[in-house]
Amino acid sequence: MQSLSEFLEEHPDLRFVFTGGKGGVGKTVSAAVLAYHFARQGKRTLLASLNPVHSLSSLFGQDLSGGQVRPVRGVDGLFAIEVNTEDAVQRYRESVSARIREFLRYADIPVDARPFIDIAMTNPAFEESAMFDKMTDMMLMQSGEYDRIVFDTAAVANAVRLIGLSKIYGLWLGRLIESRKEALSLRVQLSFRKDKVLEEVQRDPMMADLIAMSQRFDRVKGLLVDPAITAFFFVTLPLSLPISVVKRFIEMVRAYDIPVGGVLVNEVITHESLGETPDEYLRNKFAEQGAYLQTIQNDLGPLVRAYLPLYPREVVGLEAVERVAEDMFRPSQDLAAELPA
Ligand SMILES: Nc1ncnc2c1ncn2[C@@H]1O[C@H](COP(=O)(O)OP(=O)(O)O)[C@@H](O)[C@H]1O
Ligand SMILES: [Mg+2]
Repeated sequence: MQSLSEFLEEHPDLRFVFTGGKGGVGKTVSAAVLAYHFARQGKRTLLASLNPVHSLSSLFGQDLSGGQVRPVRGVDGLFAIEVNTEDAVQRYRESVSARIREFLRYADIPVDARPFIDIAMTNPAFEESAMFDKMTDMMLMQSGEYDRIVFDTAAVANAVRLIGLSKIYGLWLGRLIESRKEALSLRVQLSFRKDKVLEEVQRDPMMADLIAMSQRFDRVKGLLVDPAITAFFFVTLPLSLPISVVKRFIEMVRAYDIPVGGVLVNEVITHESLGETPDEYLRNKFAEQGAYLQTIQNDLGPLVRAYLPLYPREVVGLEAVERVAEDMFRPSQDLAAELPA
């Protein structure tokens, strides 16, 4: 197996890192530990939480809320942001409704824009689209300020679906741009004052907007499918459901050519987690774990990058993050040596 350290050494130009997996498996912890590791290596790193409910503040034991980028105290070069979902949705809502109004106006469709706007807003994926838009912003605008951005987002599946949609979206945008061009050239041909109209046409705000949107999409897609720049890490536990979720996610991202960095296996019961006198619950969990570790080995083997032990308590505070980082980045991850016989 290629360890996480080896993988990262082979990908020195990585800029965008994502963690995905079922709820509660340790995505936020993994994202934080990866970000911590990059910062410790001297990379200026932004850890961005794009979840409806944030947990970076409690994880680092310091206030990182407020929707602004904040330095993480105690780690040079590490910054964090808990993106405010409501703000992102609000801003996206405004830009989408402005676009719809503008489109209807320019296309000379004399109808009330409100029902169209309502349809766009009640789309069940609207919130995810807003977060995706925010992520796009960060990837395109803030990437100059940071060497690495680690995204902690529960909505990986949604992000991936949106990337898939972007193909259709791209076609649609291309078509819109074409018809806009046709309409404008017709206007030039039919006008008496061609020079004046041509000048106006060249300043056409809708055309500029459409082209900008389409370029933005192409740029972010180009970044997301580049294995030198982007890596998705999937976190699982040695349990049935989290394993199936990871397998499904891997198939999904691969279908969209998004590079998989690997799989992190969390909460593995080791000698240390069992302790001197393990209780029955832990002993039973341990007995179960063997079969699941075998499944992981069989189905995901070459993708496994690290095993993390089950700690006696939650991962809270900088010291705990450091401890996990040590386990995640041990040069050779020899799980067998850790497992109780
Ligand atoms: N290896 C571990 N040992 C003990 N507790 C862990 C471990 N990994 C994660 N946790 C705890 O499990 C909970 C869920 O982790 P979190 O990273 O928030 O999951 P997710 O982001 O996938 O929902 C947190 O309370 C975290 O501290
Ligand atoms: Mg989380």
